[in-house]
Amino acid sequence: MWSREYLGGENLIKKGVKMVKVKSYANIAIVKYWGKKDAEKMIPSTSSISLTLNDMFTETEMEFINDEDIKIAVEKEIKSENCKDKFGDMTDLFYLNGELQDSVHTEKISKVVDLFRKNRSQKVKISTTNNMPTAAGLSSSSSGLSAVIKACNELFGKSYTQSELAQISKFGSGSSSRSFFGPVAAWDKDTGEIYEVKTDLRLAMIVLVLNENKKEISSRNGMELCAKTSTYFDEWVKQSEIDFINMKKYLAENDFEKVGTLTEENALRMHKTIETANPPFTYFNEKTYEAMDFVKNLRNNGEKCYFTMDAGPNVKVLCLEEDLEKLAGIFEEKYKIIVSKTVKL
Ligand code: ADP
Ligand code: DP6
Repeated sequence: MWSREYLGGENLIKKGVKMVKVKSYANIAIVKYWGKKDAEKMIPSTSSISLTLNDMFTETEMEFINDEDIKIAVEKEIKSENCKDKFGDMTDLFYLNGELQDSVHTEKISKVVDLFRKNRSQKVKISTTNNMPTAAGLSSSSSGLSAVIKACNELFGKSYTQSELAQISKFGSGSSSRSFFGPVAAWDKDTGEIYEVKTDLRLAMIVLVLNENKKEISSRNGMELCAKTSTYFDEWVKQSEIDFINMKKYLAENDFEKVGTLTEENALRMHKTIETANPPFTYFNEKTYEAMDFVKNLRNNGEKCYFTMDAGPNVKVLCLEEDLEKLAGIFEEKYKIIVSKTVKL
């Protein structure tokens, strides 16, 4: 077997070591990516801007393995689970939050690893943990996929730049590309560029965890349905272009009130494409509406806070770092929360 020098810390790889460990952060958009103009080339329908969050992250270990390692792991799983079919034909091992993933989920990640390896004879084991609920609309895909990309860069000795990694990452998951920059990152639909957006605002987020269950319609499927069928989709794309320009302006001017107001408007516009899809659907539940009202009421009482929602019922509250403690105190009386500053990358 390989000699393993396990060093601890964030980015562990040293030349010649066969196991790597990386950390990557989730991001939440304040101008949303929703729709693909060209899914093959990964050109989004809308430009987007997001905050990269210090306290919502994924830690991923990756190492080379051989056929025997896969056989042993799968046999162990089959013994405990007794479901042979789920784990057939796997060329890599993918453990997510301690659980061996089935062939379908593993293949998705194997395709991402293919972007780095010569061929599938270079097999890998990936062990990854999210510190936030997975697939619940809390952006685990952005930290998860960007972590896999970072780990591949180390394991396969590629030394790509952050920009190059971001460009590769978008093929794993569009939003993950923004996790290579922070505290604020943009993805431009016209130039394809992914880059840091400058602002002196010290932004932060409080996530109101209203439902930790796996969502029924993934972001990928949701945005595809909206792009194909929503009667509002063209309008969404047009207005998004304006939102993107304005948000960059407001960030440059350090105008938090305008940044917050536009964050809410843009999120509601994205969700309007969902309500107007055919068939219409929703990611919201009753608690989502209640939480939105709660945020609005706080604002009417002078607090500086604004909501945004992604492909799930959970509400994310945008605020300034200086108000984070006070606002977290208010929200935690009513909700389970995740509090996070942004991270400088
Ligand atoms: P979320 O809202 O959490 O981003 P998605 O449905 O968009 O939910 O994405 C969830 C998917 O992202 C998972 O099913 C898995 O394929 C991938 N994912 C989540 N966490 C990780 C991780 N740590 N490593 C690799 N892939 C991950
Ligand atoms: C609502 O990046 O998950 O979170 O590119 O198909 O993997 P794929 O989609 P994904 O979509 C994220 C959509 C969003 C908004 C955003 O993060 O900008």
